[in-house]
Amino acid sequence: MNDWTIRLVQRRDVPDLLAIENAQFPEPWTKNMLLDEISNVETRRYTVAVLDGRIIGYLGVMFVLDELHINTLGTLPAFEGRGVATSLMDDAWRDAKERGVKRATLEVAASNHRAQRLYYRYGFKPVGVRKNYYERIKEDALILWADLVDEDASPGPTLDA
Ligand SMILES: CC(C)(COP(=O)(O)OP(=O)(O)OC[C@H]1O[C@@H](n2cnc3c(N)ncnc32)[C@H](O)[C@@H]1OP(=O)(O)O)[C@@H](O)C(=O)NCCC(=O)NCCS
Repeated sequence: MNDWTIRLVQRRDVPDLLAIENAQFPEPWTKNMLLDEISNVETRRYTVAVLDGRIIGYLGVMFVLDELHINTLGTLPAFEGRGVATSLMDDAWRDAKERGVKRATLEVAASNHRAQRLYYRYGFKPVGVRKNYYERIKEDALILWADLVDEDASPGPTLDA
């Protein structure tokens, strides 16, 4: 049982998200980029992990037809390795399956083995490389894809039952 809770993002969370961005990403998003992202509720779902009123991690996903795109995922450095990102991913996976999402994709820096290990646990597999995707740090990104359709999923209700 985790000590933190997962909830949908609110506008007042943006300073905390910026703190995670600045601490964890070589090319952090700006306040306006974050505000744009979280305002776009038709196609985006941003969630935060909250511990004692403090935001310790966040995840942003985008829906494109029946696909889920992971836009960002970060945990405050002091809280890494406790399962925060895993619980954010679990929540997004559950929500995506309920929405009927079939596939998920993301880009991850080629050297970011920690994030890759996390994603591989969700069935993501590398399918290609985007050269110099991270322009400032001149690093390639791996393109990962995963299937969300459970092999052991029970068949849905029949229409003529
Ligand atoms: C990648 C990142 C999001 C992972 O966040 P996290 O909250 O530390 O992730 P988790 O704790 O859920 O999982 C990470 C590890 O902790 C382990 N872990 C999970 N629960 C744990 C617990 N209760 N106690 C100790 N370790 C635990 C996991 O098994 C995992 O181990 P592994 O790295 O050997 O696979 C975080 O390191 C980060 O913000 N990195 C910088 C930004 C980034 O790279 N984002 C992804 C961009 S695509």
